[in-house]
Amino acid sequence: MQQVRSLCQRIELLSKRIRPVDSLPSEIPVIVRRHAMKTLAVLTSGGDAPGMNAAIRSVVRVGSARGLSLIGIRRGYQGLLDGELAPLGPRDVSNVIQHGGTFLHTSRCDEFKTPAGLRQAKGMLERHHIDGVVLIGGDGTFRGGEELGRVWPGRLIGVPATIDNDVNGTECTIGYDTAVNTAMEAIDKIRDTAESHERSFLVEVMGRHAGYIALGVGIGAGAEEILLPERPCEVRKIYARLGAARARGKTSSLLVVAEGNGPGGAARLAEELKKIGHEEYRVVILGHLQRGGVPTAADRILATKLGAYAVDLFIQGGTGVMAGLVGGELCATAFRDTYSRKKPLDEYLLDRQDELSS
Ligand code: F6P
Repeated sequence: MQQVRSLCQRIELLSKRIRPVDSLPSEIPVIVRRHAMKTLAVLTSGGDAPGMNAAIRSVVRVGSARGLSLIGIRRGYQGLLDGELAPLGPRDVSNVIQHGGTFLHTSRCDEFKTPAGLRQAKGMLERHHIDGVVLIGGDGTFRGGEELGRVWPGRLIGVPATIDNDVNGTECTIGYDTAVNTAMEAIDKIRDTAESHERSFLVEVMGRHAGYIALGVGIGAGAEEILLPERPCEVRKIYARLGAARARGKTSSLLVVAEGNGPGGAARLAEELKKIGHEEYRVVILGHLQRGGVPTAADRILATKLGAYAVDLFIQGGTGVMAGLVGGELCATAFRDTYSRKKPLDEYLLDRQDELSS
């Protein structure tokens, strides 16, 4: 962690040395000069996800090995607007693969979505002679990429990284596996106390609009109920099923509730259930702890593969596409299709849930 911190400090120092381009008199050269070598920038945007560092490392190492000049953009699209750019070399990404978060930092940036913001971003990329940018993030990041591609002719390549897994064009996003494992371990612990006290627990997991985490965690933790934003939340039916489970000899229950389930996640569902049966339900909201932690091997490997493939796509002249993995095969999906088409949930597992919780 010390190494990551010192790398962050270095990048911070580097980016402080580079004043925002718009504040520079035009005769002062910007740090990135025009030369034969192509320049590829990389940023992380939106909610952080374990494995983002592994993806940055892969882009930087593979890109450098192929003769590209690499630039790190700090704090996502916000940092691009603010001119927080710094060169990145292979040694700058040493010992980051095992750390969660993103050493480039990240942000959600409303200003970037405005016409003025997009113009500012275009100006910054042109002034630094950047030929392409690897955008590491989720659906919001690729929406931003789509917009930027309308005003800037450089190449934009996406790498899907979000714990939510709600990106079409890849079976798994970077960070999903770690988040599911983190939440599952927490639920295993809750199960011990639920069982000891013969209680029912509602555990809320992340996913405002998508139930991939809830489904993965619910199946992995053997939950009695899995409640997803994609499915109607029928409180009376849930109550009846919990009663039936008790009648079958279950002494405790664990309900995994997606943040975006029904009108108010786990807390609201607990209130609604209590209104019907006057029973107490314990509510645990796992929240942002699911976004942190050491990335699993699966996330590190996925991030490394997709980061390298993003460089391939850039070199091949691709733009406006996201690198993904479907059926074990690398593939490129247009930004628009990554967010406008819903990736199906695992219907087979969903259909087995009643049997599994019997
Ligand atoms: O990164 C995705 C996500 O964690 C969602 O699951 C969650 O709804 C949202 O981000 C939380 O966003 P914020 O970091 O702005 O609180």
